[in-house]
This record gives sequence, C-alpha cells and structure tokens, in this order.
Amino acid sequence: MTKKNNVYQLSDLKESRERRRNASVLELSPVELVRKEYFELVIKTLLSALRCKDDYTWGHSLRVAYFCVSVGREMGLSEKEIYELEVSALFHDIGKIGVPDAVLLKPSRLTDEEFLEMKLHPSKSYDILADYPVFHEMAVNAKHHHERYDGRGYPDGLKGENIPLFSRIILISDTFDAMTSTRPYRKGLPFEVAFAELREFAGTQFDPVIVEKFISCMTKEQQKNEETFSLQVIQGDFKKDAA
Ligand SMILES: [Fe+2]
Repeated sequence: MTKKNNVYQLSDLKESRERRRNASVLELSPVELVRKEYFELVIKTLLSALRCKDDYTWGHSLRVAYFCVSVGREMGLSEKEIYELEVSALFHDIGKIGVPDAVLLKPSRLTDEEFLEMKLHPSKSYDILADYPVFHEMAVNAKHHHERYDGRGYPDGLKGENIPLFSRIILISDTFDAMTSTRPYRKGLPFEVAFAELREFAGTQFDPVIVEKFISCMTKEQQKNEETFSLQVIQGDFKKDAA
C-alpha cells in the first residue's frame, strides 16, 4: 500500500492484498491448504444460514468484518491476527440465528422483554462456535462484542482491557455500521455524525484509543470512495451497502 498526497492508492492496495493472499497460501503445506479450504467452507456455510435467517444481518456482518480488517491494519496487527479478527467479526452476530423473527425483524422499538431476548445473541454466537476447537478464540471474541469499556455491557460485564481486544474492535465497527446503514425505517447517518457519536462514548462504551484509530481509518476509507469491498475468507467483491 502506498500513500500519495496522504491518500492511499486503491490500485496499490488491491495489488498488495493479492500479494499477501498469495504469500500466505504459498507458506502452507498441501495438508494445511486443504484444512484452510475446509475451514473456510464451514464459515461460508454458517454465513449462508445467517443469510437465510436475515439478509440484513448477513450484509452487516460482512461490512463489520471489512471495517475490522481495515482498522486491524491501521493498528499494525499481523496477518494471522487480522485473519482471526476477520473471522471473529464475520461470526459476531451468528447467534442471531437463535433470536425469534418477531424480535430480530421487528421494525419498531423492542419491549424490555424483547430486548432481554435480543441480548442473548452474543452468548448464542459463542454456543454455536465454541465446541469446534478451531473456532474457539473466535467464539470468545464474538461472545464479548457487547461488553462496554466501563464494565456496564453484557453478557459478563467485563471492563477495559479485560475485554478481548478483538471484541473491542468489533463493538466499534458494529456500532458504526448500525449508525451509518440505511434501513427501511430510517436513513443512515453521515460518517461525520457517526464519528462524533463514537467520540462522545469513547472511554465509557468504547476503548478510546481504538475509537481514534477507527476514525482515522474510516476517513481514509471515505477518501478511497470504493463501491465494493473484498474479504479474504469470503473471496469476491461485495457492495458496501449489501443489506
Ligand atoms: Fe451484536
């Protein structure tokens, strides 16, 4: 990736993504390669099940994964860490498969009882993934994506850096996508308004250091003005507003 006049150049970015993907594939033995393909097929199958349940949540999961990968690079994570972050983000809401349609798809405000039902989805994400050893870390990251930095989140009320790093990144990406997505009942907020919201809750809801990294990263994304995004696991271009 190269920078010209402080703007990342798209063609170089795509080229370097391709190089990284090939490099990581070349490092794998044939057995590892088959395992990786099998692993990614399982991921795609589970995501297809999520798409059958709710097309919006599927599109949201892809966008959140894209934001997470982008901010992970901004934070200097290794490619291995970024891969784990990407899969964790793709799966963060997989537990919504277990939320009744009447609650998940309700276009109006949830009642207290319905909200309690909805709050079970991170634990359900964990339950779906945790027994399969290769998904265990991702299951933990998904379980804690609604913990708040001040300890007032759920399901376990973890606080500050006791919350897994990837869960803290996912929460910010998740909230940002929820604010900026257009739904049938409301228009998405402009990026600048969403940035201000993230800053307002930095230190209470969100990790303040990651909020600033995220905003800097999304500002660059905005400048790139791409209409599609691509992810390593999914392989293929997806509309950024896929919903
Ligand atoms: Fe969630």
